[in-house]
Amino acid sequence: MAVSDSLPWKPYPELSDAERIARANTFLESMRTRRSCRHFADTPVPREVIEAAIFAAGTAPSGANRQPWHFAVVSSPEAKAAIRVAAEEEERNFYAGVAGEAWLEAVSPLGTGPDKPFLETAPWLIVAFAQRKGGFDAAARVQNYHVTESVGIACGLLLASLHQAGIATLTHTPHPMRFFNRLCRRPAEEKPLMIIVAGHPAADATVPAFALKKKPLEQIASWL
Ligand SMILES: Cc1cc2nc3c(=O)[nH]c(=O)nc-3n(C[C@H](O)[C@H](O)[C@H](O)COP(=O)(O)O)c2cc1C
Repeated sequence: MAVSDSLPWKPYPELSDAERIARANTFLESMRTRRSCRHFADTPVPREVIEAAIFAAGTAPSGANRQPWHFAVVSSPEAKAAIRVAAEEEERNFYAGVAGEAWLEAVSPLGTGPDKPFLETAPWLIVAFAQRKGGFDAAARVQNYHVTESVGIACGLLLASLHQAGIATLTHTPHPMRFFNRLCRRPAEEKPLMIIVAGHPAADATVPAFALKKKPLEQIASWL
């Protein structure tokens, strides 16, 4: 097994514990204000914001540092319209019964339906693809590891970065979503995991009250 070179740890900023706690809480308070947005304005968002958020996503930890993600960024009206048509077709089937009763009941408090006008209104659609095979060389085809976990973490960073930049997002998962490979011109071996819609909320945007219901710390953590 090859042994890699080591570099000295690059120190994080010198902080007191009080400063660390304050920073952690500042981040928490900011993230508490993130809400999935389903009503977007067509107000433009600079490409630099999207690029920085994808760079941030690309800093995520990943199995064996394989970075098994690709983000297809869509802004052209034609491509967004094609995505909307394909997504709404799948969503019509989904809400007509493909989802099954339990799933439809689970999403009912969100008030969502098959119409997805935001796929055309929002300035940016970012489709996250998971690569089962890849490598640093674009042509490489080595096995990747913990692919879904890695891409999930990267998408979390992407969402947090956009939120910090004051951009509203929606994580959207039309079901099934293989059409993204064709419309984003990605190889069949890549698996689309989610589309992240990014933009500014419409003036009359609302959020489902249900979304504000978050589990308490005691329920999501145990201390051993
Ligand atoms: C993996 C994943 C898939 C999601 N898919 C959809 C979706 O297809 N449509 C939708 O309207 N919201 C979708 N959401 C958003 C959730 O409904 C939303 O995160 C949840 O209701 C909590 O609301 P919040 O994001 O405002 O906290 C998805 C979220 C995740 C993490």
